[in-house]
Amino acid sequence: MALKVLILGANGFIGSTLTEQILANRDWQVFGMDISDDKLGDSLKDPRFKFVEGDITINREWVQYNVRKCDVILPLVAIANPLQYVKDPLRVFELDFEANLTIVRDCVKYKKRLLFPSTSEVYGMSPDSVLDEETSSLVYGPIEKQRWIYACSKQLLDRVIYAYGVRDGLDYTLFRPFNWIGPRLDNLLDAKEGSSRVFTQFLSNVLHRKPIQLVDGGKQRRSFTYVGDAIDCLMRIIENKDGCASQQIFNIGNPASDLSVAELAKQTIEVCAEFPQFKHLAEAATVVSVDAGTYYGKYYQDIQARVPSIKNAKDRLGWAPSTDLRTAIRHTLQYHVQRGEVNFA
Ligand code: UGA
Repeated sequence: MALKVLILGANGFIGSTLTEQILANRDWQVFGMDISDDKLGDSLKDPRFKFVEGDITINREWVQYNVRKCDVILPLVAIANPLQYVKDPLRVFELDFEANLTIVRDCVKYKKRLLFPSTSEVYGMSPDSVLDEETSSLVYGPIEKQRWIYACSKQLLDRVIYAYGVRDGLDYTLFRPFNWIGPRLDNLLDAKEGSSRVFTQFLSNVLHRKPIQLVDGGKQRRSFTYVGDAIDCLMRIIENKDGCASQQIFNIGNPASDLSVAELAKQTIEVCAEFPQFKHLAEAATVVSVDAGTYYGKYYQDIQARVPSIKNAKDRLGWAPSTDLRTAIRHTLQYHVQRGEVNFA
């Protein structure tokens, strides 16, 4: 019998890419729910994909029914944009924590395998130069710094899931995305400042002739991870050969792509210049510095460096990332060019 995978938030960045890859490369069935379907494209036409437009907090019966029916559950519904953490922290708590706790409990009740998206943010301002799933401390700032409500919500769910594993034998995997990037991360066509994660924001700024803004000068670093590599890792976790991913935590990131935000700006402009239709925009691109208080407000606090240890993923899943940042930027632009979506003046 083909594996049945339930993806809540199937239209998100991870959900839509994962759905597409499963349908293209496996014989599994996918059941999906999301409040919209604009990123799902041809997946919607596939008979192995059963999609329902709905809200996981309202369509409870559908969710429970499908948790019972499926083998593997991925609750991917969450707000994952730092500007939202500081603007609407209670909404982040309600959706990322409360709504997902309900799904976690459904998985416990029906004894289903749960693949839960933790986050690189759970490490917060950990002093470790390389972040390890088992040994690194999780370090956050004062309560006033509301940014941490996202990391706290995710961390507490990690702890709840772990405890269900210990007490009830819940079969789970916690995976921690480290700045996954690529097509569909955010809406490239939405030029609004702060509406996107930095990868899409910088591309969007170049294409819309807006200055790239380096928050506090752009010295902070991230390990940018191409979504194609990341989804390959997720597929291995879903497959779970000989239980290799059960009751495990995996950082999914690219330590070789540990770069400053200023370097990201530079490479974004350089790769845009490789495309004849964007060359003039790349040549006109400007980069400015803005302080974090002005960009995000007083509830923000940043993370200066974030490099994953991927030893556990290498050892247990045989996985390693292979795509560098330039290639990831190229793939993202090509994706939009192929769809004729980017006709910028
Ligand atoms: C992200 C988000 O919290 C989630 O997407 C996710 O859980 C996690 O981290 C991850 O993907 O690993 P962060 O990396 O801080 O957090 O989010 P970005 O919005 O991509 O910002 C990265 C850095 O770029 C920050 O230091 C930010 O201040 C800076 N930035 C952002 C700029 O310099 N300019 C901008 O216009 C936007």
